[in-house]
Amino acid sequence: CGKPSKSGLARVGFSTGFGVLAATLGSAVGLGNIWKFPYLTGANGGAGFLLVYVLATLLVGLPVMMAEISLGRVGKANPISTLQALAPKGQPWWLIGAAGMLGAFLILSFYSEVVAWVFAYVVKAMRGSILSSDPKVTEAAFGALISDPMQSLLWQWGVLVFIGGILLMGVTKGIEAITKRLMPILLLLLVLLCAVSLSLDKALDGLVFLFQPDFSKITASVVLTAMGLAFFKLSIGMGTMMTYGSYFRDDQNIPLTTVRVMAADLCISMLAGIAIFPAVFTFGFEPTAGPALVFITIPAVFSQIPMGQGLMVVFFVLASIAATGAMLSLMEVPVVILHERVGLSRPKATLLTIALLVVLGSASALSNSTLAEFKLFGLTPFDVADFVSSNIILPIGGIFIALFVGWAWGLDKFSQAMSNQGQLHNQQLIRAVFFLLRYVSPALILIVMLKGLKLF
Ligand code: PFF
Repeated sequence: CGKPSKSGLARVGFSTGFGVLAATLGSAVGLGNIWKFPYLTGANGGAGFLLVYVLATLLVGLPVMMAEISLGRVGKANPISTLQALAPKGQPWWLIGAAGMLGAFLILSFYSEVVAWVFAYVVKAMRGSILSSDPKVTEAAFGALISDPMQSLLWQWGVLVFIGGILLMGVTKGIEAITKRLMPILLLLLVLLCAVSLSLDKALDGLVFLFQPDFSKITASVVLTAMGLAFFKLSIGMGTMMTYGSYFRDDQNIPLTTVRVMAADLCISMLAGIAIFPAVFTFGFEPTAGPALVFITIPAVFSQIPMGQGLMVVFFVLASIAATGAMLSLMEVPVVILHERVGLSRPKATLLTIALLVVLGSASALSNSTLAEFKLFGLTPFDVADFVSSNIILPIGGIFIALFVGWAWGLDKFSQAMSNQGQLHNQQLIRAVFFLLRYVSPALILIVMLKGLKLF
C-alpha cells in the first residue's frame, strides 16, 4: 500500500480508512493515557482538572489536530518542508517544524525512561515481587527501581536499542499491525481492572474524586497543566500529526477521523482513571504521588484478582506495546527531518537520533538517583523535560500552527483540504473550526500559558 513520496522515502500511504484511524490512534494512545493522565489528575485535584482537560481538548486540541493533519496531507512531506512549501514566500513558518523536532527530543528524553519502567515491570511482574495491596510494598518496589542509577540507565538503553532496532530493520509496519491487533486486549484488561476497582470498599470515594469537580481547586497552573495534557495526549503541537497527515489518503474524512481518535483516546484515559482511583482511596495511596502513581497502584488492583500475577504480566507487556507505538511516532519526527532535510540516510538518521537520546535521556533516567539533587526551578531533569515539553513547547507550537492556518493559509485552502476538495459537505463545521483556529485557540493558549506560568 506504500506510495513513494517526492523524496523517495517509502511514505506509507495508509491503505484503508480503518488503517488511518488505527495508526493515528496508535500515536495518540500510549503512556499518556495509562501513566500521565492518572498521575496529573491525582496531583491536580481530580474532577476539576478532568473538566478543564476535556474543555481544552475540544476548544484547542481538536482544531489544532485538524489543522496539523490537513496541512500534512496537502504538504506530503516532513513538517519543515510542508510549512516551507505552504507558507507565503519568505515567511519563516518552517521554524514551527524545527521547534517541533526539539520538542520531540525533549519528550523522548523522559518518555523513554517511563517506557523503561514499564519494560522493567514486565520482569518484576513475572517475579511476583510487586503484587501487593500494601502501599509500602509497591512503593518500595518502584523506589528500588528508580533510585538505582544502573537499572534506570540500562532499561532506558534497552528501550532505545529496541526502538532503534525496529526502525532500522524497517519493521515499523509490522509492529503497527501487531499493535492494532493487541490493543483490544489491553482495552479488555482495562475494563476488567475497572470492574475490580469498582467493587472495592471505597470505590465511591475514587469516583467522586474523579468525577465531582471541586471548582476551588482549579487554579491557573492547573488549567495550564490540563491544556498541556490535551496537547500531549493528541500528539499535537510538534509536527507528529502533521507527519501522520502526510500519510493520509486523499479521500479520508479528516474531521471524522480526528473526532473518533479524540473520543477513543479520552475513553481509554477514563478507563485508566476508573481503574486507579478507587484503589487509591481503598488501599490508602496518595493521589498526589506523581509519576509513581500508576506503578504503585496497579499492582494493588491485580492483587485482588484470581490469576492476578499472570494478568499483570500481560498488562505490562501490552502497555509496553502501546508505549512502543507512541514512541515510534515520536521518533518519526526527527528521523524524517534528518533524512529529508539534512540528507542523512534513514539508518543514519535513526542512529543519530538514538545516540542523541542516549545522552539526553540519561538526565531523566538519573533524576531519582545520581541527579536527584540537581534541580532547576525546584524540578528534577525528568520533571523539567515533562513540564517544559507539555506546558511550553507543545502549546507554543499549537499557537503558531493555529495562526498559520488562520492567517497565512486562509479559509479557502483550509476548507479545500478539510473537505477533500469540496466533496464533503460540512462547510459550517469547517468554518467553525477555522474561526477557532484564527481567533480563539491562539488567544486562549496564550492567556492560559501566561497565567499558568505567572508571567501576567
Ligand atoms: N500521545 C502519546 C501518549 O499519550 O502517550 C505521547 C506522544 C506521542 C506525544 C507522540 C507527542 C507525540 F508527538
